[in-house]
Amino acid sequence: MEQGQMRRIASLDRDQARRILVPGGAGYIGSHTCVELVQRGYQPVVVDNFVNSSPVSIERVCQITGTNDIPVIEADIRDTKRMEAVMREYECEAVIHFAGLKAVGESTTDPLNYYANNVQGSLSLLDAMESAGVKHIVFSSSATVYGTPVFLPYTEEHPLAPTNPYGMTKYTVELMLNDLVASACDINAGILRYFNPIGAHPSGKIGEDPNGIPNNLMPFVAQVAVGRRPHLNVFGNDYDTPDGTGVRDYIHVVDLAEAHIVALEKLMASPDSFTVNLGSGTGYSVLDVVKAFEKASGCEIALEFAERRPGDLPAYWADPAYALELLGWKTRLTLEDMCRDQWAWQSQNPNGYLEDQ
Ligand code: NAD
Ligand code: UFG
Repeated sequence: MEQGQMRRIASLDRDQARRILVPGGAGYIGSHTCVELVQRGYQPVVVDNFVNSSPVSIERVCQITGTNDIPVIEADIRDTKRMEAVMREYECEAVIHFAGLKAVGESTTDPLNYYANNVQGSLSLLDAMESAGVKHIVFSSSATVYGTPVFLPYTEEHPLAPTNPYGMTKYTVELMLNDLVASACDINAGILRYFNPIGAHPSGKIGEDPNGIPNNLMPFVAQVAVGRRPHLNVFGNDYDTPDGTGVRDYIHVVDLAEAHIVALEKLMASPDSFTVNLGSGTGYSVLDVVKAFEKASGCEIALEFAERRPGDLPAYWADPAYALELLGWKTRLTLEDMCRDQWAWQSQNPNGYLEDQ
């Protein structure tokens, strides 16, 4: 598909649903959020340049939800004029902004590309929102904005000190949003700090489909299970954690997607902006995850202990109390659910979306 070309899954019925612009909607978290949007009566309008995704994901969203009506616009969010035109054409009420680059290691070798995509891209979207009169934005931030823990669990008041360019881009966009909402403009923002999203839609039709060798634990484990990788390297077994391996707060991507709808509705109902952690409040080690995945899949995961990965923190997890107080939201799916659904996705799509392209 050429840049700028508009692709419609089917004709748009303008009168039926409230339309939400979803930049990055073809990606991992975005596609799961599109499912939730459709199931709650909204119409996602996806903008994506497919730098890290495939349009097949949206065809699968249509299969899951039974809709044939998700407009997909191939464009870069840095094209401000085009973003404004799309917002106007579809009369979007709000933006749920997922578009950006997310590989921590790559951000240290190509920082300008990360600032260009994540910071300049967000600035461009906000400019377009101001011009088109769109008032609400939900933004994908990350627990990585906290940096080295001063205390745990991380509350939203924990000092912000990202330790890599990717984290700096998220922090910078948070600052930009805070300044914008404090100004006289009438845009409000929900900043969502995700912990570690894993798992997939229980249908197994959509899931995370990383390019090349996965950076993250869960997709790597799943690719070992289907024979695409010989073994998992466990990065460090000498941390000061119960079994010596790194501890994180894993959150099912469907729980995460649901939180976006709650956040969106909060923004549409009241003028206040907010920043909130999205995690479960429980930390699991790398070996906990491997064991849970083995149980869910029935596959043995070969592993080798390797050196610590540079830049990794030993352990962190969220304080999820404010999410419950503010949004009435908490996670409901367990590590077992995350592993079962990851396996449903990976076993049904051993090569991701590739076969359908
Ligand atoms: P993803 O790579 O699967 O999705 C991002 C989408 O944005 C992709 O479809 C990509 O093609 C698109 N995109 C990137 N740059 C673009 C641009 N300039 N214009 C248009 N589209 C562009 O990643 P994801 O895991 O779904 O993450 C979504 C968001 O959540 C990202 O902003 C990410 O930084 C953030 N986040 C992710 C995690 C995680 O572990 N997955 C954790 C914290 C925060
Ligand atoms: N790990 C391994 N082997 C691997 C991959 C990971 O042992 O092949 C370990 C890591 O050392 C760490 C744990 O598994 O202890 C989780 O690592 P991930 O790479 O899956 O996730 P991170 O916590 O490093 O970072 C992720 C995203 C970031 C996001 C952050 C938010 O990659 O973008 O979660 O908490 F900001």
